[in-house]
Amino acid sequence: MLNNAMTVRPAGAAVGAEITGVDLSQALSESARNSIRHALVTRGVVFFRDQQLTPEQHIALAREFGDINVNRFFSHADGYPEIALVVKEPHQTKNIGGGWHTDHSYDTVPAMGSLLYARETPPAGGDTLFASMYAAYEALSDGLKQTLAGLRAVHSSRHVFGQKRAGMEDRFRNEHLATQDAVHPVVITHPESGRKALYVNPGFTLRFDGWTDEESKPLLSYLYQHAVRPEFVYRFAWQPGSLAFWDNRATWHYAVNDYQGERRLMHRITVEGCPLAA
Ligand code: SIN
Repeated sequence: MLNNAMTVRPAGAAVGAEITGVDLSQALSESARNSIRHALVTRGVVFFRDQQLTPEQHIALAREFGDINVNRFFSHADGYPEIALVVKEPHQTKNIGGGWHTDHSYDTVPAMGSLLYARETPPAGGDTLFASMYAAYEALSDGLKQTLAGLRAVHSSRHVFGQKRAGMEDRFRNEHLATQDAVHPVVITHPESGRKALYVNPGFTLRFDGWTDEESKPLLSYLYQHAVRPEFVYRFAWQPGSLAFWDNRATWHYAVNDYQGERRLMHRITVEGCPLAA
């Protein structure tokens, strides 16, 4: 398949684009790479189907978009430290990513995005939800936008990866490396699209900078329920060979844990980002 027959069409109303006519196992043409990147930063997440990727091809694809972040906490595919395993075995009841979050907001320079490739999917269920943080921000009142404009928030890896988590078996490791704390603007200007996006998330954000946890909770809770209004969300149903590439600066995601007794095996590669500014 040639890369010059590519088509991009919106998936959800606010977030996501389905891209067809591209074979991701081959090096991308410059125009295909630019079109994918444009769709990624404007739509927040792009989806591809029926891709046949070896681990090497998955790594080469990720490198087309930046340096790879080797994950400190996830177990990885044998022989491929760049490929984090997002797996749930039939006997396991907890999944990875089963709560709204954006990856790596605890890093001072958060990762740009991830390329998640489906190797084994359950017969039904195991979808992933994506929410647009552009849409969430834009729908706020002018008054709340003004309040948020002056705020920064504290994010951390400690409470998520800093201790063994019941039911996760050996899927996470290196608890002693969970020492990341970072402060970012609550509203960022996306470094590539130039659009404003809400940049707090229920997974890793602890509080507003200079506020107590207790003081922060009501406003954070408001933002968290606002940000996942149905009109800001798209639900992606996976098949083996599907690949989603999301932008952490523009979206949150949530892996739905509704496939007990079945196996789901995904390979995730994360690409480095840049510092974020208001
Ligand atoms: C993740 O949160 O990175 C995993 C998402 C998924 O498995 O759908």
